[in-house]
Amino acid sequence: LTMVENTLKGRDIISLKDMTRKEMELVFDTADKLDPRKSYDTLKGRIMAALFFETSTRTRLSFESAMHRLGGGVIGWADASVTRFGDPTRGETFEDTIRMIEGYADLIVMRAPQTGLDYYPYVAAEVAQIPVINAGYRLPPEDIEHPTQGLLDLYTVKKEKGRIDGLKIAMTGNIRYERTSHARIYGLAKYDVEFLFANPESGAPTEKYLNYIKENRAKYCHVSLEEALKEADVCFVVDGGAYKGKKPEQLLEQEKADALKFAESWRITVDKLKDSKPDMIIMHDLPRSGAGGFAIYPEVDKTPRAVYFREAANGVTVRMALLSLVV
Ligand code: CP
Repeated sequence: LTMVENTLKGRDIISLKDMTRKEMELVFDTADKLDPRKSYDTLKGRIMAALFFETSTRTRLSFESAMHRLGGGVIGWADASVTRFGDPTRGETFEDTIRMIEGYADLIVMRAPQTGLDYYPYVAAEVAQIPVINAGYRLPPEDIEHPTQGLLDLYTVKKEKGRIDGLKIAMTGNIRYERTSHARIYGLAKYDVEFLFANPESGAPTEKYLNYIKENRAKYCHVSLEEALKEADVCFVVDGGAYKGKKPEQLLEQEKADALKFAESWRITVDKLKDSKPDMIIMHDLPRSGAGGFAIYPEVDKTPRAVYFREAANGVTVRMALLSLVV
């Protein structure tokens, strides 16, 4: 598919921190040559193990679709609780599970189990000789990351805006322990962009990510949501997160109204976008609804700013490109 040297062959894709700008662009250029509605025989006879230990709609199905489009096969389970790893009585260690799967597939795509341990993708990559792609893991501490979502987000920005360099990129909401935001920062910091961080108290990226931006090509500043929506060329939306860090059932009676107001203050509505640049685009890794309601109101879907469903569709193309380069 490409004449450029493929340094991604056989590599584990655990973090976008480990990928150079040239390598990310190799993925984007490869994606540009692929049609996600067409079938290829690039990976005919190859098998992808889809090890999803937690819920997913987009990542799992787009990876599976990508592998099928490339002519390969997919193995996996409907529910990890039916594997030996998930069996509380006659269980198996994570390491042994990976050792087994290594014998059955040519690559592992894994969304890690949500059991409080934060290092699963790294362990899988250590144990397995075949490439391991981190398909996102969720729990803090801050190393949680979703590198392929980061790749498809950068690809979407490039496709929608024609470039990445020179853009002002807003990141709103509580992104401190948000796996996609971490990946976006690692990817975008290698471009000449300005991050506009508009986050609730304790919702901004930690020093580690801010330092990474400083050590690379990008710049950043902290702004209000209003300023971010006015200045940005691209806005990555995340909701406000938990009010005072509490789950809904932990809120005291007198806190409930304030919690609603807080969630509302971070929601993106058509009204909040009235002073935005005419060509500013809104992105979200989806789902955009959860315990706190909608992060982006459905009324925004009808505007030309709404890029999030195209962003999700690009997941197939970008994952086809990545699979064809790694396997
Ligand atoms: N964007 C994303 O990772 O979605 P899923 O959790 O549905 O895979």
